[in-house]
Amino acid sequence: MKSATQQPDYRHFDYQQLSGALGAEISGIQLNGDLSAAAVTELNQALLEFKVLFFRGQKMDNHDHAAFAQLIGTPVDADFIPAIKDFPMITRQQYDKYSRMTSDVNFHHDDSFHKYPTKMSVLRGLDIPDFGGDTTWVNMEQVYESLSEPLQQMLEGLTAEHSLAKNFTGVMLESSSGAAFDKMMERNPPHIHPLVIRHPETGKKSLYVSELLTSRIIELTKEESDLLLNYLCQKAYQPELACRFSWQKNSVAWWDNRNTTHRGIDDDFFPAIRSMQRIAIADERRPSLHPENEPVRDFSSLDIVPCNSLDDKPSTKPGNNSTSQPANIDTDFLTTLNETKAGITFTPEASIRIKTIPGPFRGAALSAILDAAEERNTVVIDDEILDIVQANR
Ligand code: SIN
Repeated sequence: MKSATQQPDYRHFDYQQLSGALGAEISGIQLNGDLSAAAVTELNQALLEFKVLFFRGQKMDNHDHAAFAQLIGTPVDADFIPAIKDFPMITRQQYDKYSRMTSDVNFHHDDSFHKYPTKMSVLRGLDIPDFGGDTTWVNMEQVYESLSEPLQQMLEGLTAEHSLAKNFTGVMLESSSGAAFDKMMERNPPHIHPLVIRHPETGKKSLYVSELLTSRIIELTKEESDLLLNYLCQKAYQPELACRFSWQKNSVAWWDNRNTTHRGIDDDFFPAIRSMQRIAIADERRPSLHPENEPVRDFSSLDIVPCNSLDDKPSTKPGNNSTSQPANIDTDFLTTLNETKAGITFTPEASIRIKTIPGPFRGAALSAILDAAEERNTVVIDDEILDIVQANR
């Protein structure tokens, strides 16, 4: 980070650092799809430097939000939280006295229960209470650095399960039924990630643990796991490692999920309504202590073949070596999608055939398509899906 006396390195905007740990308010720039490549490069640099960037007075509509997200990466279609009409990648999170901020009030990395958690999020404030409803972010690199070296070394050898069941069980059972909870878990099965990960761009290590979603440390007994997780989650409550943001209408926060956790603060701002819209950006890699060894998903090199141009046959395009091996894709997603009759089937040639995907499953389907592409299998898709995938390339 810069000291207050150093000149800013950024030519396209001004910034004001918000805390010693992380966070900067950026001014003099409007977020939309018209930003120059140079401005986007500088914004990305600032995100690496400050981990979370805040923007005030952003007169954005949904198109601007989506266009900006596409400039900084590959937006993921909503799967867990419903999307808004016509924008499958924008989720609406609205809280009032009937739907409290139950899902966001504990620290978390967004989507860490997924195999490929999203790497960044862009959250926009629409209706903001006169007081309360702030959000706090924590610098998880500094949380890791605050641990002793022997503990750091031990944690580097451990992995943990991230599961929606950790905290959402009570909420779901209170507000709906056991069947709804089972369905949610079927659609969003837990995944295991290392306890310490390294940021692929900065090379810095950080603790990948959260109160909301990290359910158990795989290599330890339940008693050991509960004690250690409790201790590590408490370390995220050091105010000097945090930054707190008070929202206004048209504020935007853009954060890196690989080295921060965040929590919304449910401090009884009712009867006011707090409504936010969020776009999450896909990660090319899984969280890892050795990101340099992780396969990188290439969002731009999908071999996409519309069905109608092939008379429903898988691709036989020259150079495509895809027809003999079954796709080694994420079977959790596929099972879920097949069970929900989302229209994914294997063709006789073991490529993947995707016909239609109901809205809530689009994010998961996109992951399946990308995984399949990674294995160089042909992905044969109908026009509707083609639009979705192309919008995410
Ligand atoms: C989120 O957890 O993505 C949203 C946090 C908030 O609404 O403050």
